[in-house]
Amino acid sequence: MQISVKDLSYVYSEKSKSLAVHALDKVNLTIEEGSFLGIIGHTGSGKSTFIQHLNGLIKLEKDKGSIKIGEFDLAEKNCDFRLLRSKLGMVFQYPEYQLFAETVFEDVAFGIKNFMPETTPEQTEEMVKNALETVGLNYYAVKDRSPFELSGGQKRRVAIAGVIVTKPEVLVLDEPVAGLDPVGKKEFIALLKQLHNSFVKTIIIVSHDLNLVAENCDKVAVFSQGKVVATGTPKEIFSNEQKVSELGLKLPVTATLEKALNGVGVDLNSDLTEDGFVRAFTEFYKGGNG
Ligand SMILES: Nc1ncnc2c1ncn2[C@@H]1O[C@H](COP(=O)(O)OP(=O)(O)OP(=O)(O)O)[C@@H](O)[C@H]1O
Ligand SMILES: [Mg+2]
Repeated sequence: MQISVKDLSYVYSEKSKSLAVHALDKVNLTIEEGSFLGIIGHTGSGKSTFIQHLNGLIKLEKDKGSIKIGEFDLAEKNCDFRLLRSKLGMVFQYPEYQLFAETVFEDVAFGIKNFMPETTPEQTEEMVKNALETVGLNYYAVKDRSPFELSGGQKRRVAIAGVIVTKPEVLVLDEPVAGLDPVGKKEFIALLKQLHNSFVKTIIIVSHDLNLVAENCDKVAVFSQGKVVATGTPKEIFSNEQKVSELGLKLPVTATLEKALNGVGVDLNSDLTEDGFVRAFTEFYKGGNG
């Protein structure tokens, strides 16, 4: 499903003159099927408001733009949001806080009951088992446990299982690695990549971690003051140091190193991933430049 957003505007507390906040101001963004998009931007720039429009959590208001996701036109009265939400999964910051059921099984099965009520109990069990195993948990070991007695990392996995259980084509995540330790973060990214290689076609990730974005995303959209002010590959976005700092953002480590090396006459021109950087650096030395 391609996602096409045109001239999307949103005002919180629109009716109040003193409280009104113009969170989105004519946002235009097309997200191709298959992309791994990073959404970045300073705090309050509208990132969360934007993504909450994508599954109708914030309602697209009349004359405030258009949102089309595959066959779904979110401006249409008869838009099937239940079906849309089974195909576009949304993971919020600290998703483990959203766990609520008495057992892990019930928690993960909730999305099926909610979005796909015609599913049989046998199919439900199979789907829950698949989802839990996909996120690296042993179905039989966790299914009857209370989600509240699991570790933080396990809770987050259960929460993700509850989102991917309907096999969404698009997965949208708001600050998904916040609060994880470096190992937890690495494992989480590996999980996202594994999902991207299977049924999740498109991943959209909102993050303040520009290293993570440079490392994993193939496209970046930069928000500032309710607008999309730049889109491009991580290389295109992070090569423009002046613009990045004007937007209140800090370069990823690879871009900072490249810039420093550039200052002493070394032009690596890598793709700004860690592997790419190391490869370019090694090539430079092998080439006898060292
Ligand atoms: N529920 C709300 N009511 C009123 N104003 C809000 C609400 N949620 C967000 N805002 C305002 O809308 C603007 C955009 O907020 P949003 O949460 O989309 O930004 P963000 O880019 O996700 O920021 P952060 O990086 O801090 O998460 C901000 O000015 C914010 O204060
Ligand atoms: Mg936010």
